[in-house]
Amino acid sequence: TKIFQPFSTMYEFDSGALNPQGKLISRRLSDMSSMYQDSEAVQALLNDNPLIYEVYNVEVPENEEHIQHCTTILYPGKVGSEFFMTKGHYHEIINRAEIYFCLKGKGLLIMQTKEGEFSSLEMEPGTIAYVPPYWAHRTVNTGDETFVFFAAYPGDAGHDYGLIETEGFVKAVMEQAEKYALVANPSY
Ligand code: F6R
Ligand code: ZN
Repeated sequence: TKIFQPFSTMYEFDSGALNPQGKLISRRLSDMSSMYQDSEAVQALLNDNPLIYEVYNVEVPENEEHIQHCTTILYPGKVGSEFFMTKGHYHEIINRAEIYFCLKGKGLLIMQTKEGEFSSLEMEPGTIAYVPPYWAHRTVNTGDETFVFFAAYPGDAGHDYGLIETEGFVKAVMEQAEKYALVANPSY
């Protein structure tokens, strides 16, 4: 067996970034334009193509011995009245769980199973959310500042975006009367 060397990473409290930054993923509106409900609002924003979120991912081997860990920085904003959100996914190995720890801002973690069960959890700094095995998960920035959370999950989990890309989540998170509302997604 090859022994892996211990190491640490610094979390930057102001920005939510990691140092060293690891593998950086950036997603703009054009990377997920079909996932928002209001296609006219999408068209109107596509020229600007806003940055919606970034993931700083510590690079460890993608196998069951290891624990993937990363921060997600989800910017504030809306597409029409739908809040900025992550794409969302099931794990490729669907029975792999995950822990989200909110560090900054506020948001909503929405989850669903393939049987159509739906659940949501509010996140604020200090919230530790548990995403159990079999639940797809997406985060939504329901505030007006940057929402940042740390995530840790089994090294071999992988990401399956396919079903979410075609069907979406059971509910969309929209702004209503200066709060958020969970609204049925007609294409689910
Ligand atoms: C990893 C995980 C998070 C997300 C990240 C971006 O399993 O759940 O680190 O990957 O918040 O969201 P997606 O991957 O849905 O674009
Ligand atoms: Zn995940």
